[in-house]
Amino acid sequence: MNKSKVLSLVVVLLGIFLLMGCNTATPAVSETVTQQPIVSPEIVETQASVDTQEPTEVQTTVESQVPDTNVDYISGGVLYDDWMKQLEIETPAEDQPLWKTQTTNTRSGKDTWRCKECHGWDYKGLEGAYGSGSHLTGFKGVLDSVSMTEDELMAWMDGSENSEHDFSGYFQEAELTLVVNFLKYGLFDTAAYINADKSVSGGDGSNGKVLFDGLCAACHGADGKTLNFGDEDEPEYIGTIALDNPWEFWHKASFGQPGAQMPSALKIGWSIQDIADVLTYSQTLPTE
Ligand code: HEC
Ligand code: HEC
Repeated sequence: MNKSKVLSLVVVLLGIFLLMGCNTATPAVSETVTQQPIVSPEIVETQASVDTQEPTEVQTTVESQVPDTNVDYISGGVLYDDWMKQLEIETPAEDQPLWKTQTTNTRSGKDTWRCKECHGWDYKGLEGAYGSGSHLTGFKGVLDSVSMTEDELMAWMDGSENSEHDFSGYFQEAELTLVVNFLKYGLFDTAAYINADKSVSGGDGSNGKVLFDGLCAACHGADGKTLNFGDEDEPEYIGTIALDNPWEFWHKASFGQPGAQMPSALKIGWSIQDIADVLTYSQTLPTE
C-alpha cells in the first residue's frame, strides 16, 4: 500500500467511527458538520400575499428586527397608505371615531380613516412632519411598534386596546396580520436620509438615475412627467412629490401605490440605500 491509500483508509475508518456516534472522541467535528449555515441577520425572505408579485430576498428595514419565519412585512405598507383603495372597500359613512378627539386637522371622510393621516408618512405623527400645518392632529406616531409584540400590535388593530381604534370590521384577519407585520418589521426611520428641511443626505444621485431609468421611467417617463398626480393647473409629478413630500415618496417607492400596478421596490429586492438614491435623483426632476 502506498501512502495515499493508507491515508484514505484512515479517513474512511474515521468516517465510520463518526457515523457510529463516537462523539466523545470528536465532539468538535460532529458539531461543526451539523451546524446550520449562518444566514446574515439582515437578509430575510418574504412572501407576497396581497398581490401576485414574487418577492426576492430583501433587507429588513429596521435594524436588529428579524422575523423568526418568512414574514411578509412589505404588503402591509400599501394598506397603511390607503387600505380602502387597496382592498376596494367603500369608505365608512362616519369619520373615524378618534377623529373627533382633535380639531386641528379639518379634513373629513376618507382621509380620517387612512393610517398615514393620523400617524404620518414618516411614521412619527406629532413628532414628525405632521407636527404642524394642516395635517396636524396631535396623534402619536407608530415607530414604537418595533418594541411591541405581534399580539400587542394586533390588539391595537382589532380594537381590544382601544375600542375606537378598531379596524377588524373592514380587514380580513390575514390583512390585519399584514399590517401588524409591516408595523413590527417594515418601518424605517427615514431621518437616516431625509432631513427636516426635506433635503436628502447620503443618497447617490447617479446610481439613482440608473435605477430610476431602469424601473420607474417605464411608467413615469424619464423626466417623471408622464403621470400627473395633480391636475392641469397644479401638476404634480415625480419631481414635485420628491421635493414637497420626500417621506411620502419614500413610502410609495418602498411599498407601492395602493390600487395601482406600481411595484414595491422593496419587494423586488431594492435596498434602503437604493430608495435613498432614487429619491436623491428624483429631487432633480422637473416640477413643471
Ligand atoms: C383617526 C386617526 C387614526 C387612524 C386613522 C389610525 N390611527 Fe392608529 N392611533 C391613533 C391614536 C389617537 C392612537 C393612540 C390611541 C390611544 O392612546 O389610546 C393610535 C395608536 C396606534 C398604535 C399604537 C401606537 C403606540 O405606540 O402605542 C398603532 C400601532 C397604530 N395606531 C397603528 C395604526 C394603523 C396601522 C392604522 C391604519 C390601519 C391606524 N393606526 C389608523 C389614531 C389613528
Ligand atoms: C408599472 C408602472 C409603474 C412603475 C414601474 C412605477 N410606478 Fe409609480 N405610479 C404608477 C401609477 C399608475 C401611479 C398612480 C398615479 C395616480 O394615482 O395618478 C404611481 C404613483 C406614484 C407615486 C405617487 C404619486 C401620488 O402623489 O400619489 C410616486 C411617488 C411614484 N409612483 C413613484 C415611483 C417610483 C420612485 C418608481 C420606481 C421605483 C415608480 N413609481 C415605478 C405606476 C408605476
